[in-house]
Amino acid sequence: MRKKIVAGNWKMNKTLDEAVALVSEVSNMIKDEVTSDVQVVLCTPSLYLTTLKPYLEGQTRIALGAQNCHEKASGAYTGEISAPMLKSIGISYVILGHSERRQYFGETNAQLAEKVNIALANGLTPIFCCGESLEQRQNEIHLDFVRTQLTEGLFHLSPEQFANIVIAYEPIWAIGTGLTATSDQAQEMHEILRKHIASHYGAEVADNTTILYGGSANEKNAAELFAQPDVDGGLIGGASLKSREFTTVVKANK
Ligand code: G3P
Repeated sequence: MRKKIVAGNWKMNKTLDEAVALVSEVSNMIKDEVTSDVQVVLCTPSLYLTTLKPYLEGQTRIALGAQNCHEKASGAYTGEISAPMLKSIGISYVILGHSERRQYFGETNAQLAEKVNIALANGLTPIFCCGESLEQRQNEIHLDFVRTQLTEGLFHLSPEQFANIVIAYEPIWAIGTGLTATSDQAQEMHEILRKHIASHYGAEVADNTTILYGGSANEKNAAELFAQPDVDGGLIGGASLKSREFTTVVKANK
């Protein structure tokens, strides 16, 4: 049975006081939902992770995640954060390959394959991002482009390793634009990605892979998106910065 996840990607937002308030509010808003099997992940700025952990003591439904990690374990990489560092403070998820990091920091599929390896080696669950640009979709090369992101970034893994991967399909043209993919568009790509995974690892691994949708998902459209058979939850940006809206999105994942 594949996991249902709703992850918040806070990106570069919130001061420490705002972050403490948001984590506390979200935790309080879902604490009475003990029957839900939806895993909530809050991917806050890494600077805050150790401070925020105590606010989630005993809150089993919420895990903390990072938004990136370096592909090396240590060394002269000023400003970077390593997977061993995240492991040492008890972090369990890490977003890898977000389109903003691919765009602004030139991250390649080959580099991300190394990041995935070191994240897995340190017990982290990678949330591996993929997604096409509007131009690629308009030129109808989006399916092959996104399939290649998985092939080059993930398909070196063994089936056992791959079982620890979460995929996030985030069409670039929907990120931060308010132009959400329709539920049909999301389902089409998720189904294609699941078939691509099955072609390499077999149906059982594919059926058990969690594939999240990201890109202007919010309280208004989450229920329809999450109702799609191959959409297992969301990776939420702007809507994760407001406790009431984010918890509404979480509760929409039934
Ligand atoms: O990683 C999630 C993010 O890229 C989506 O952002 O603001 O469109 O929900 P947003």
